[in-house]
Amino acid sequence: MSIAWSETLASGSAEIDNQHKELFARINRLLAAQNNSRAGLEEIGRVVQYLTDYVVFHFGSEEKLMDRHRYSSSSGHKAQHAQFVKVFQRLKDRMFTEGLTPALQQETADLVVDWLLNHIKYSDRALGAFLRLKNVGSAQTADPAEEPVYDREGAFIHR
Ligand SMILES: [Fe+2]
Repeated sequence: MSIAWSETLASGSAEIDNQHKELFARINRLLAAQNNSRAGLEEIGRVVQYLTDYVVFHFGSEEKLMDRHRYSSSSGHKAQHAQFVKVFQRLKDRMFTEGLTPALQQETADLVVDWLLNHIKYSDRALGAFLRLKNVGSAQTADPAEEPVYDREGAFIHR
């Protein structure tokens, strides 16, 4: 299992999109390591840390953008980030106590990939649309007509 970035995930913020691409690359490193039976705990620890560092950095930079531009949906968005960190931490703890059983491997892949795709599609694209209204970042999404529409305060208007 791996995760692939596509234009349907474009938020319109080059900063956020580039970070998502790097995040996906690091997730794929973790999923590849899990699939390699020769990968020892030390290697798992390394790729888990490599991914964790970037998750912290990425969530932090999105949250700074929300604060700087007074994004009205920031508390819900931040709560999603916090929830992910909590669930991911539990999975990491289990990796080191139970080892990487196929079930845990699958659970990790499902959680990380499903959560992230869903979060990007709805929450991060909404944030990206809001930032574009504030003229933050210049990149355009492939199909702006597909975008949910938000007013200047970040309140949902229509999809
Ligand atoms: Fe986010």
